Amino acid sequence: MMKSNRSRELTRREFLGLAGLGVAALGGCGVLPGAGRGSLPSAPGAAGTGRIRTYSLEASTLDFHLDGRIVRTWGYNGIAPGPEIRVAEGDTLRIRVKNELPADTTIHWHGLPVPNAMDGVPDVTQPPIRPGDDFTYEFVVPTVGTYLYHSHAGLQLDRGLYGPLIVEPRKGSLAYDREHVLLLDDWLDGLTGRNPEAALAGLQRSGGMGGMSSGTMDYPRYLVNGRTADDPETLIVRRGEQVRMRLINAAAETVFRFSVAGHSLTVTHADGQSVEPVEIDTLRIGMGERYDVLFQTDNPGVWQIAAAPENKSGIARALLRYGESRGTSPPPPGHYPSELGGKLLSYADLLVAGRESFPSEGLLGGLDRSHHVTLSGGMGDYVWAIDGQRYPDADTLIVREGEWVQVTLRNMSMMAHPMHLHGHFFQVRNGTGRGPFKDTVLVEPHMGELTFDFVADNPGNWFFHCHNAYHMESGMARVVSYGR
Ligand code: C2O
Ligand code: CU
Repeated sequence: MMKSNRSRELTRREFLGLAGLGVAALGGCGVLPGAGRGSLPSAPGAAGTGRIRTYSLEASTLDFHLDGRIVRTWGYNGIAPGPEIRVAEGDTLRIRVKNELPADTTIHWHGLPVPNAMDGVPDVTQPPIRPGDDFTYEFVVPTVGTYLYHSHAGLQLDRGLYGPLIVEPRKGSLAYDREHVLLLDDWLDGLTGRNPEAALAGLQRSGGMGGMSSGTMDYPRYLVNGRTADDPETLIVRRGEQVRMRLINAAAETVFRFSVAGHSLTVTHADGQSVEPVEIDTLRIGMGERYDVLFQTDNPGVWQIAAAPENKSGIARALLRYGESRGTSPPPPGHYPSELGGKLLSYADLLVAGRESFPSEGLLGGLDRSHHVTLSGGMGDYVWAIDGQRYPDADTLIVREGEWVQVTLRNMSMMAHPMHLHGHFFQVRNGTGRGPFKDTVLVEPHMGELTFDFVADNPGNWFFHCHNAYHMESGMARVVSYGR
């Protein structure tokens, strides 16, 4: 029985939740919407708090301080990375974006299943915001977790046009003493006359020579929170604390391997969604992925927090300093902690926490649709494709509202691709039947294969693409479209 004080219609998500719980639950023993399968990460329609949180972001050119010199780049509100946005689940987020750039722009709320018109993909969900114009995004924040916002126009992600978007639970939380957000990035803009558009032209030229079949770029700098390894941020802790770190890979072209020297890490969330805690020494984080980790401060000293770019030279770092350890000198910039070679997180270790999984037990009655897609490119010319087609000259992938959809990705290229689906969380098939809910997933090179499932519960046209900005720009994207 519906509770009598609920006058509005059930949302799709609540409907799925109740459907999954079966007749007994509907028979009136007080199962609340939101329990059981209803606690799959929410699509729009989640009940709001009614509280409106207003932000404004002005995109403009700015001076960016890098190793004591000043470079010109593009960012938000005069800083790079952009300001942190921190709200609670169910709040209404209202963000006015003013475009003072010399180019069109939009902002995408990466990982959050917002209503389609608020998703910020130029020419797919909205016309681009022209120079001098503004646009206001507004949506009820559908779920907790660690997200990022970034420009979705061209290669703008590879400038300073990104920032953290943190959604706290309405109440209750992990127990921890301190929290730090770490944004990882690769940086070339403004250095030695480089900018992203010139970098793409360079890739296209050298790709044509055939000698760069992997087509990856060494960047002049790698950053944590906008700071280089020579000028790192220092995170102060005290002995005996539980520290939470929210890791966000905002790089355009770089997968990082992350460790904290002298400490092991407990992974608690993947792409904002909770997982069963898993102990590791190191993890790989693809572009667009996020992990939340906890660690215990039980090893006083000054330690390297290291993000080593995969298949590239250089390092991004911050420092972990125990307040008690005065006078201890920090590790040198180029120090690679031995933990980087320790126990490595794999997707197979991640189990969804406190939530039903959907391939089993007949949610929706069974699989309704599957798409098999092949990722290719990087051989000879610098072109990247999905099923041989390059966006925008590409077919849409059709789904219908309410379907349980399965996508299998096969990577025929020699680079890993962090594939990102807008507007939905998907559940990664990792052989456990309880894979994590994510929105971005690394598909390994050399015929790497990966399958995920999602419920088509958020109608619209949704971008699905490689989160390597240069691959996206070179065609590795599709639109997932709700047909009738
Ligand atoms: Cu983070 Cu389509 O993007
Ligand atoms: Cu890619």
